[in-house]
Formats: sequence, structure tokens, C-alpha cells
Amino acid sequence: MAVRIVIGAQWGDEGKGKVVDLLSADSDYVVRYQGGANAGHTLKFDDTTIVLHLIPSGMFNGNSKCVIGNGVVIDPIALVEELEEVEALGVDLKNRLFISSSAHLILPYHKVLDNVKEKSRGSDAIGTTGRGIGPAYVSKVSRIGIRLIDLMDRERLEEKIRKNLNDINIALENVYNEDPINAEKMIEDLEASVETIKPYICNTTELLHKALQNNEAILLEGAQGSLLDVDHGTYPYVTSSSPTAGGACTGSGIPPLAITNAMGITKAYCTRVGNGPFPTELNDESGEKLRKNGQEFGATTGRPRRCGWLDLVALNYAIRLNGMNELTLTKLDVLDDFETIKVCTHYELNGEKTDVFPADCDELDDVIPVYKTFTGWNTSTRNISTYENLPEKARVYIRFIEEFTGVPFKIVSTGPKRSETIVR
Ligand code: IMP
Repeated sequence: MAVRIVIGAQWGDEGKGKVVDLLSADSDYVVRYQGGANAGHTLKFDDTTIVLHLIPSGMFNGNSKCVIGNGVVIDPIALVEELEEVEALGVDLKNRLFISSSAHLILPYHKVLDNVKEKSRGSDAIGTTGRGIGPAYVSKVSRIGIRLIDLMDRERLEEKIRKNLNDINIALENVYNEDPINAEKMIEDLEASVETIKPYICNTTELLHKALQNNEAILLEGAQGSLLDVDHGTYPYVTSSSPTAGGACTGSGIPPLAITNAMGITKAYCTRVGNGPFPTELNDESGEKLRKNGQEFGATTGRPRRCGWLDLVALNYAIRLNGMNELTLTKLDVLDDFETIKVCTHYELNGEKTDVFPADCDELDDVIPVYKTFTGWNTSTRNISTYENLPEKARVYIRFIEEFTGVPFKIVSTGPKRSETIVR
């Protein structure tokens, strides 16, 4: 049975939620493996639109069991809000949702730290989502994190929170000139969400190992994208986890040799939210048109996304990093009314042509993209659900990308709805 990872091939927001929703109909398990409520996975079906931040996007199609893995950082208050939202749509979460006891919590002090640190960075700010992601992973790695298992023992939980707050309050007051956080109030606020979450907490690694033994189909859902990976992305303008394939293993407990497929999701163009280098960014009418056609505003923060042409140097890098053996192309319809469409095939750096994605952000800032230009198809592709019915010029565009990368598109998405999908 397939154990497939769905990974963003760009800077996030590639439309992974829709793809996971589609593929989950054939999956026994859908597993989120990293990130937190910084992600916003938008799902559209029937007359419903829902944005999931923590719960896997497999919750609404079929009966797959949904797992929030150990690699995710969980804001309990955001999680409870989301559980209520999903239940209000008639979904019974009991025996469908399983949350790792080893996952770490995002507590209010992480969010405060995220925001004060961003403020103190001034013009070097990363442009985080402000959801406390970086500081929560810092707590985890510095071994002072609080895990979901700690919610089971009230005394231990309170002791850990007080201890952490002692240090954090010293920093808040003396380094950042901020008010200290009151431990008692924080513990009290946490109480209600703890009781709601407790029934879902379990050893998800064990659960997934049993699923592997039983030869069940598993879909691993990445958040953000390869170029935001803390090791392989555009550091320091990255998130603090590993959206790439390796992160799927550490964030779920599934061993690398169990993975059968790595599917990369790429838009037909590029977007990025937050700061950092973006070689093909368009600060002109075409960029504005991509933003308008594609409704490119952050699902979590509402920020306008930066837009640009598809970057095949970056895509090939993501393919190699993750061992992607299949691709999905999303938002093809956004290009429907462009007279010409460009894709970046190479960079020029210091007068030399290169197809290497630089590891150094300053170099990436300096590259000049070299483009191949295509004639637009100038007709709507919305609702088209068979490959043959796509306009020939759109097929030329798709074929070029497949040949350039050497990886086939298994799915092409022509609109936000489930029906607006070509599965090949
Ligand atoms: P953080 O993950 O909130 O720390 O933000 C770090 C960087 O990742 C910022 O540039 C964010 O805009 C970006 N980022 C985080 N989550 C997402 C996402 O789900 N989609 C796109 N960008 C994201």
C-alpha cells in the first residue's frame, strides 16, 4: 500500500489542502507531520469553505483516520477552536482524530516571544505568522518544551509552566521592555482546552507502526513548503521546522524505507508571504494580476502574497531535496487570461549561467532569472477535468515543465473545487 508524502515544492500555499482532501478518499490514515497553526489549508466542497490550521485535510473526504504527529507544535486554544468548527460541520471526531502525546505545545508565551522578537529585528524581520512557531521549536530543541503528555498530569504541567515563565519573564521585562506573563492566569486559561483535547491524545507512532504492519495506505501531509525548510530553505527567512521529506519521517515516526511516493505540489506560478529572496518576483502589473486572479492573500494572516513566474531552478531543487517522483500542478486557471507566460529555466549569477539554487540568501538575492516565454491560451480552463480537454497551449506549458523536471504531473488543478481537477 502507498505511503505517500504530499510536500509543498515552493514557499507554501501551493494548494496542498485540496490535494490531500482528494487523495484522502483512498487513504486509511492522513498525518500532519510538522508546523503548527501557521499553516492554512483551504478546502472547498459543496457550498462549504473551511481553512484548517492543525487538523489534517483528510477529515472531510472518506473515513480516513487523521493524525497530528509528534513533529507538529500545537496551540491548544487554536486547536479547540478548530475542533469545534469541524464538529459544527457534522464531522464526528471520535475514533477519527489522534494527536501525538509527544507533540509540543505552543503556549501564550511563545506567541508573545514571536512578536517581540520580530519587532526587535526591525528591517531584518522574517515576517512570521506570529503564531509562536519559532519560539515553540526553540523550547523543544532546548529541552524545556511542554508536550501533550504533560497535560495528563496537572501538577507536572503547572510546575513546568512556572519554571519556564520564570526565565521568560526576566527576558520580557529586561530585554524587551514588555509586561511579564502571569502564570496563574495562563494555567487557568489553558484548563478548558486541556479537557477537550485529552481524549484525542495517544501514542501515534505506535498507531502508525500498526498501520504499516497491516499494509494500510498512509498519506503524510506537509505544511509550508520546501523553500521554507529550516535546513534547506532560504535561511533565515524560513519556518522553524522541516516540511521536506526527512521531516515527514521524524515528525511521524514512519521510517524512510516505508515511503513509496513523494508528491510535490507546485503552483503554475510562484508566491511567497513574509520576507526573503524571491528571484522571479514581479513588482508590476503581471504580479498584481496573478495576485488578483489567484486571490493570493494569506489563509492564516490575510497578508497579500508576493507573486512571480514559475521558477524551475527552485522546483528542480525541491524535487531533488525530496526525491519527488510525482507532481501536482495547481491554479493553472490563474494564467488563463495572460497574453504571455514566462518560466525561469536558469539563473545568471555574476555573469555566469547556473541552474544551482544558491544556499546563501545574499547570492539568491543577486541572481537574475533567465526566462522562456510561452504564448498564453487565453481561454478559461475552469471546470476542465480531463487532460485532453485542456487548450493545446496549456498542454504545451505543462509538457515543458514535465520534460524540464523529468517528473510527471499526476494531478492538474483548474480551480478550487474538487470537481475542478484532472487526475491522470
Ligand atoms: P513562521 O512559520 O510563523 O515562523 O513564519 C516564518 C516564515 O514562514 C514567514 O515568512 C511566514 O510567512 C512563512 N510561513 C509560515 N507558514 C506559512 C504557510 O503556511 N504558508 C506560507 N508561508 C508560511
